[in-house]
Order: sequence, then structure tokens, then C-alpha cells
Amino acid sequence: MSKYLALLLITIGAVTAQQKVSVKIYYESLCEDSMAFFTKSFVPAWRDEDVQRYINLSLIPYGKSIPKSSDPNNRWDCHHGREECVGNKFQSCIIDKSSGLTVKNQVDFIDCLMNKADKSSAYMPTADTCASIVHTSITTLNNLKECAEGRQGNSIYEMNQNKTNALQNPLQSVPTIVFNDRYNKADSDTAQKSFLTVLCKYIMDSPKPKACDSVSGAPSTTAGLMSLVTAGLIYRML
Ligand SMILES: *[C@@H]1O[C@H](CO)[C@@H](O)[C@H](O)[C@H]1NC(C)=O
Ligand SMILES: *[C@@H]1O[C@H](CO)[C@@H](O)[C@H](O)[C@H]1NC(C)=O
Repeated sequence: MSKYLALLLITIGAVTAQQKVSVKIYYESLCEDSMAFFTKSFVPAWRDEDVQRYINLSLIPYGKSIPKSSDPNNRWDCHHGREECVGNKFQSCIIDKSSGLTVKNQVDFIDCLMNKADKSSAYMPTADTCASIVHTSITTLNNLKECAEGRQGNSIYEMNQNKTNALQNPLQSVPTIVFNDRYNKADSDTAQKSFLTVLCKYIMDSPKPKACDSVSGAPSTTAGLMSLVTAGLIYRML
């Protein structure tokens, strides 16, 4: 009797345990490769809710910025110029808890910015346009701007600087995508083109989300078999 109960518990455990994959994205708001990564690789995968629930997301806009002075209005040189600093800080404020936005809303907002921003024009008008497209309230938008232009923005940006330096100083390639806190250049390069391919590799549940069928050959069957064998072994040991 207790054996059956154990088997039942193992099965339930295997079905419900949902290990999220840690995904850290180091990027820049006006970097063409970062923009393409968001709009063509990451967000299309993210929009699938079956996939999204496996992602523990950290966005770190900073990239190849360089600290240059203690002047609070001019503390960093950004890779693609002054407007990129505006964009990076604005996005840092979207991502910060203080924005009150859900992760889903944060990604929608940033996806719009990454679609519409343009190196040759001012960033804030794009922020206004996107706020209206994704239905961010005027109050939230004003708070985000105040954050981005003030001390709070600098402090969050310094945190992004520290997180980026902890990975690589300077960052070798933008964007860099890190899965489960272990940098792997091949993963990062593949994810730039097909985020889903790499994410699915790290999802250990079986079956994997349906979307993974399109990017991985047989691994979901293999994983299913493995967990069955493991359950069988544990069962025999009891
Ligand atoms: C998500 O990642 C953060 C660190 O980036 C960690 O503190 C948190 O526990 C993780 N959450 C889940 C559900 O894995
Ligand atoms: C960043 O790192 C520096 C040096 O270790 C530290 O003094 C500073 O407080 C850190 N800043 C933030 C915002 O965590």
C-alpha cells in the first residue's frame, strides 16, 4: 500500500515540479543586435504562456557603458551615445520593482521600445508613444521619467553596472544571454537567433512546452523515458 502511495507521490511530483530557468539578458537600448534579439527571438518565444511560465527573467540594460564622472547628470558614456543612456535608464526604471508593472507589462513596454527606438532621434518621444501603445497610465509614465532622469535612475544603473561587471568587465558581446547563471558563449550566440532552442534545452520537465517540439528533435521523449526509469528505480528501492 505504502509503495503505491510512494509511486503516486513520485508521479505527482514529476508532473507538478516546475523548475524555472533563470534567464539573464545583458543588453543595450539602441544596439541593433539587442533590438533584433528582443523583437525577433526573445519576445516571440515569451508570448507563448506555456513557455513564459518556465522563464525567471532578469533584464540588465547596461552593456558596454563606461563610467566617466561623478556628475549626476553625466555619469556614464553609453556605447551608442547619450540617447542610449536615456533609453537604458528608462528601461532600468521599467524593470525596477518601484515601477509597479508586472513582468509581463515590463516586457510588452520594452518590446515596443526595442521595435520603435531609433539611434538618430531622441528617446523620450518613443517612450511616450510606447506608453500609449501598451496602455501605461500617465502617472506611471511620469514616475518612470522622474526615475530615469534622477538619482533613482543612477542608482539602479549603478546596480546594472555591478551586475554586468560581475559577469564580464567589459562585456564581450551585446546582447549576452545567460541561462541558469552559467555563461556559455555557444548558448548566448544561439539564443540571439533562436532563444527558444536554448531555453528548451534547459527545461527539464516532461513533456516540454509544445513550442519546444519545433526546435528540439527527440529530447523531450528521452527526458520522459529518463524520469520513468528513475521513478521505476526509486520504486524498486522502496
Ligand atoms: C528568480 O531569480 C532570482 C535571481 O535572479 C531569484 O532570487 C529567485 O529566487 C528566482 N525565482 C524562481 C521562482 O526561481
Ligand atoms: C556597486 O559596486 C561598488 C563597488 O563594489 C559599491 O561600492 C556600490 O555600492 C555598488 N552599487 C550598487 C548600487 O549596488
